[in-house]
Amino acid sequence: MKTIVITGTTSGIGRQTALKLNAKGHHVIMLNRNEQKTKALQKELVQPAQSTFIFCDLADLKSVKSAAEKVKVGFESVDVVLNNAGGIIPDRQTTKDGLELTFQMNHLGHFLLTNELIPLLEKGKEPRIINVSSEAHKQGNPNFDDLQLENGYSSMKAYGNAKLFNIYFAQSLHDKLKDKGIAANALHPGVVDTKFGSDFKGFLKVLLKLFKPFMIKPEKGAETSIFLATSDEGYEQSGLYWKKKKPAKTASIAQNEENRKRLWKESDKLVKQVLTESDAA
Ligand SMILES: NC(=O)c1ccc[n+]([C@@H]2O[C@H](COP(=O)([O-])OP(=O)(O)OC[C@H]3O[C@@H](n4cnc5c(N)ncnc54)[C@H](OP(=O)(O)O)[C@@H]3O)[C@@H](O)[C@H]2O)c1
Repeated sequence: MKTIVITGTTSGIGRQTALKLNAKGHHVIMLNRNEQKTKALQKELVQPAQSTFIFCDLADLKSVKSAAEKVKVGFESVDVVLNNAGGIIPDRQTTKDGLELTFQMNHLGHFLLTNELIPLLEKGKEPRIINVSSEAHKQGNPNFDDLQLENGYSSMKAYGNAKLFNIYFAQSLHDKLKDKGIAANALHPGVVDTKFGSDFKGFLKVLLKLFKPFMIKPEKGAETSIFLATSDEGYEQSGLYWKKKKPAKTASIAQNEENRKRLWKESDKLVKQVLTESDAA
């Protein structure tokens, strides 16, 4: 039985991932921002006693930090951190921390959560970190002088960057944690029929509707996450990008080491800045 922290289980891929992992006998610690939806999901779990709900809004770093503290109080160790929550935002929005929402909900919230949980992973069995990225990382082309996309925001630019950051983050974790025996991977779940993109209006909404019949079901979309969380390969192979349960090629930009190191530096700086400001308030 593994102890698995997973974000975003109220819908889509994360929901199916939590259901299946729990049915396999694992304890799922579900970090969500919607208590009602989580409680409803808990009623559908095969082993509801093997589940824990902890409130976590990734768009609020104080909430992420407090969720991590609750995991530390309630659990001696953690075997898997599955950073699943995320999405695409039609128009630029900022979080209460003053950061661009796509960046924070897909990347920075998970950056803080994962780093906070490393001491528990160190005590876990075959511990691993999994970031749900996307083929959309191929659209990523970050300008580190405008990481918050204050100039020329587009939803695809923000999402492409954020999903590229999921890969950079997994690779950096692999570099930093391999000596501690912690694996880190990123994955593309497939093109999945979920709530993803449901805030779109106009042309993009029509386009999404046209694509729906060709999309895979969330049950299928959850397969690579479940595979990486539970298989021997998901622990023995680290620092990779996966599709359909197999290592896959990334775009060449995902191998840019300078970007990867810069992302870590900027993320660390932003987290410290936001948490210091909120402590002082
Ligand atoms: N669907 C696809 O084709 C596809 C393709 C490639 C990658 N992905 C990735 O797969 C992951 C799951 O997406 P999905 O397709 O399953 O979408 P989804 O059905 O919209 O589910 C997204 C999940 O993220 C949660 N979430 C969003 N913002 C949050 C926040 N601020 N704090 C905490 N939780 C938050 C949502 O919670 P609420 O219920 O509270 O909104 C929901 O549980 C995402 O990382 C996405 O980028 C999806």
